[in-house]
Amino acid sequence: MEVSSDYAVQMHGIVKRFGAYTALDHVDLDVRKQTVHAILGENGAGKTTLMNILYGLYQADEGDIFMGGEKATITNPTEAIKHGIGMVHQHFMLVENFTVTENIILGDEVCGAVGVLDMRKAREEVMALVDEYGFDVDPDAKIEDITVGMQQRVEILKALYRGAEVLILDEPTAVLTPQEIEKLIEIMHDLIAKGKTIIIITHKLKEIMQSADECSIIRRGVYMGVVDVKNSSETELASKMVGRNVNLTVEKTPAHPGDVMLEIRGLTVKDERGIEQVRELNLDVRAGEIVGIAGIDGNGQQELVDAITNLAHSESGTIKMKGIELTNKTPRNTFEAGVATIPSDRHRWGLVLPFAVSENTVLERHVDTEFGSGITLDYAKLREYTRELIKRFDIRPDGCEDERMSGLSGGNQQKAIIARMVSSEPDLLIAFQPTRGLDVGAIEFVHKTLIAERDRGTAILLISFELDEVMDVSDTIAVIYHGKIVGTFPQGTVDENQLGLLMAGGELK
Ligand SMILES: Nc1ncnc2c1ncn2[C@@H]1O[C@H](COP(=O)(O)OP(=O)(O)OP(=O)(O)O)[C@@H](O)[C@H]1O
Ligand SMILES: [Mg+2]
Repeated sequence: MEVSSDYAVQMHGIVKRFGAYTALDHVDLDVRKQTVHAILGENGAGKTTLMNILYGLYQADEGDIFMGGEKATITNPTEAIKHGIGMVHQHFMLVENFTVTENIILGDEVCGAVGVLDMRKAREEVMALVDEYGFDVDPDAKIEDITVGMQQRVEILKALYRGAEVLILDEPTAVLTPQEIEKLIEIMHDLIAKGKTIIIITHKLKEIMQSADECSIIRRGVYMGVVDVKNSSETELASKMVGRNVNLTVEKTPAHPGDVMLEIRGLTVKDERGIEQVRELNLDVRAGEIVGIAGIDGNGQQELVDAITNLAHSESGTIKMKGIELTNKTPRNTFEAGVATIPSDRHRWGLVLPFAVSENTVLERHVDTEFGSGITLDYAKLREYTRELIKRFDIRPDGCEDERMSGLSGGNQQKAIIARMVSSEPDLLIAFQPTRGLDVGAIEFVHKTLIAERDRGTAILLISFELDEVMDVSDTIAVIYHGKIVGTFPQGTVDENQLGLLMAGGELK
């Protein structure tokens, strides 16, 4: 592609190596002004790395960056901001106990004549931005008190406040509800109308179809070309990215449920503030079936999982596993009762980032004798075992057993957790947002894995904010609203609209 002022950003021949590993191998990116440009690629393809280079967080080993047709040297984020680049990261970076305004101006304070911070002026400027873009954000609210969707709008405002003309959004919808996603797409179109340019990384093909003009595709660090979105389809994007046909629909045979594994009766759980989040909930999960919980984030899903796994105290009611009481025991008891959990927040509960991938695969099992006696680990055996898991679960890059978990891409970290949990051969597998941040090929694999586990006789409790996922994978769908199960349906007996209505607190006629 020629270098021209028609393009807000052009990155040509970008090479990035981490030690002996080449994460980006001569990648190009040409983003036209005032367009939404999507970047699509499998987990570990190099999308975040490419954007970190543009934002000055990493230096490319080779290649050039052009902004509006002019060569740009960007060696740190301050320079990127000077070039009008703003970035909203995969994991937010706001300060929880600061207000919205404080977070927006942090690091870019407006100073009065004597060098003191002029909060009033700053607040006015923030208000003006909020008005201009029609954002639904309270400038005086504390970050910890607002929804994830609002926090994201604060991140966007923060970039706009610094004069961003090009906005990079790294998987912005992975943490949003369907309603918030719609709102974000509106905001994106609005920003384009006001002259901005947006680069968005997402695994959700539907969103690319809805929001993007063009889509650049990277496969394992190699540039595969750019696609004109309106003349393409989800199926075409998926196969271009993975290099094979991906089955976007879930195939499975009917379930053969056995004995009740998990039995919950009258469960009530309060959060730290003493508010009931789970209220007199009843639920059964049988061996050999997948029970999926449909619901909007914040309706008690987290507290339900925390109670079952004994990370939270149950106020009243009972939780039994194979008839044995698990209520208000310890996480160790839960694990020993045959319960494995794929947690929703992989950084908080799933992984120890500074540890090696191999050490992470046996986190709750190192007391087992298979990898040594008690305190010492048999590293050779552990490495061998991890290598098998890496192959079986396609964790990339191949041979990463000795690397630190923090060096893996987000999606590959998720695959590592799933590998660890499934390989422990549990009787009950709790899968909480198991495909969050995964590419379509990996999602297909995870869904197949859950169904294979079911067919092996495992009871599976799937909790997901993706309604499509719950509808496609579950044998039984239970809707949660305000901490209660408000409806239970065999798969295929209820449609998206009916479920959406129940999830929002409505009733079926
Ligand atoms: N700081 C680092 N040190 C070592 N390796 C790294 C580092 N950052 C990235 N990598 C490697 O570079 C490759 C690309 O990672 P990147 O995070 O860019 O992937 P991604 O396309 O954003 O994937 P995902 O969709 O899972 O977020 C991965 O194989 C990763 O292991
Ligand atoms: Mg990434």
